[in-house]
Amino acid sequence: MTRLVVRPAQKALSGSVPVPSDKSISHRALIFAALAGGRSRLRGFSYGEDNVATLAAFRAMGVGVEDDTHGTIHVAGKGLFGLSAPAAPIDCGNSGTSMRLLAGVLAAQPFKSQLIGDASLSRRPMGRVAEPLRARGAVLRGVPHPKKAGDITAPLEIGPLPENTRLGPLEYALPIASAQVKSALLLSGLFAAGPTIVSEPMVSRDHTERMLDALGMPIQVTGSIVSLHPPADPNAIGAFDVELPGDISAAAFLLVAATIVPDSRVTTRHTGLNPTRSGILDVIRSLGGKIGITPQGDALKEPFGEAFASFAELRGGSVGGELVVRAIDEIPIACALAARARGTTEFFDLEELRVKESDRVATMAGVLRAFGVEVEENPAGLRVEGRPVGALRAAQVDSHGDHRVAMTAAVLGLVADGETTIDDVDCIATSFPRFVGTLRALGADLEVLP
Ligand code: S3P
Repeated sequence: MTRLVVRPAQKALSGSVPVPSDKSISHRALIFAALAGGRSRLRGFSYGEDNVATLAAFRAMGVGVEDDTHGTIHVAGKGLFGLSAPAAPIDCGNSGTSMRLLAGVLAAQPFKSQLIGDASLSRRPMGRVAEPLRARGAVLRGVPHPKKAGDITAPLEIGPLPENTRLGPLEYALPIASAQVKSALLLSGLFAAGPTIVSEPMVSRDHTERMLDALGMPIQVTGSIVSLHPPADPNAIGAFDVELPGDISAAAFLLVAATIVPDSRVTTRHTGLNPTRSGILDVIRSLGGKIGITPQGDALKEPFGEAFASFAELRGGSVGGELVVRAIDEIPIACALAARARGTTEFFDLEELRVKESDRVATMAGVLRAFGVEVEENPAGLRVEGRPVGALRAAQVDSHGDHRVAMTAAVLGLVADGETTIDDVDCIATSFPRFVGTLRALGADLEVLP
């Protein structure tokens, strides 16, 4: 287990840096490349552990993947009906996205499979994806959830679909906005005997819809309603070549660091700017931060460009509703903004944060308190009393195995009054393997200890 030591910033952070390829987009690009009828090229793949779990899953199902170790991978797609049975359980590690999206693909296969994960993933709710998949005829079993009566969790046993049967059509209204559930259902819909129509209470990240559209699949989006017709041709998805946009969720740590460390100016290059993902930019702005973007193009219908932030004096505000959906993974780092804002910041509608890699409402309340910040926690929210004047109290915290909690604590350590230590930081590699090196390149002083 590795420990990270962060020393208070003695100077401004400054520079222009790359960020890892977008985790959500990379999962989807891998999946569609595996299901394509030909050899696809994914450039800029950044080997975060979550994405590597999805890559390994398709290798285990007979998909050839070559990597040139410089971040370009070539995927020899098998077409829609060419996957083979994995010889062993598929290990999704810490990755909820791998497990839920793969469940959608595997539910449609004529072979049996098992999805397993680490301790954190084996506590996350899976009934939300199992239930609608079963409603269209999937065979899917989990183990009873230890804390949530009526729910299930991993390991998941999936399939096989009986010979000569297909999943049925599906019309389903998601009770909560979830891109993972929506995507699992759309993926299963590629193999189904009829259309898939899903709706959400609010629009969650739409990477799957954009990619299906970019690849010529018959998908229609009207507000929060998405419908997909299964393609007739098993090789309907053509091979593709994409340079993966950088991850705005990773960029967020750097942009917030620039916002709270005096005199800083930081640019993140080739960063994904999909509006269903970029809520953190609005959060930074709404609390008084200075953010700029320079759009540069799009890849598989995903907009990307440069994002820029500079130091600003922040004021408290409120963060809830659709902003939480568009910044669902950025609430931990948004807490770092709240910690440095003048006045109170109220976060509400955070129910889903409780079932992420950790219970992020509780873990973030603990981290903020360790830095001397006053926080009130309620079932679906946090109320943070900002401390804009003087340094925060240097802290000793544990990541709880959650990459985003670990990285948020590191950013807070930059404005503390002494050395901050963060335990159990191996998890950072799930989404941002070069986090420490990137912050160092911007001028921060961090050290990894065994
Ligand atoms: C993701 C969707 C979100 C997000 C997760 C990635 C995706 O989860 O928190 O990190 O790639 O679809 P939910 O669908 O559970 O909201």
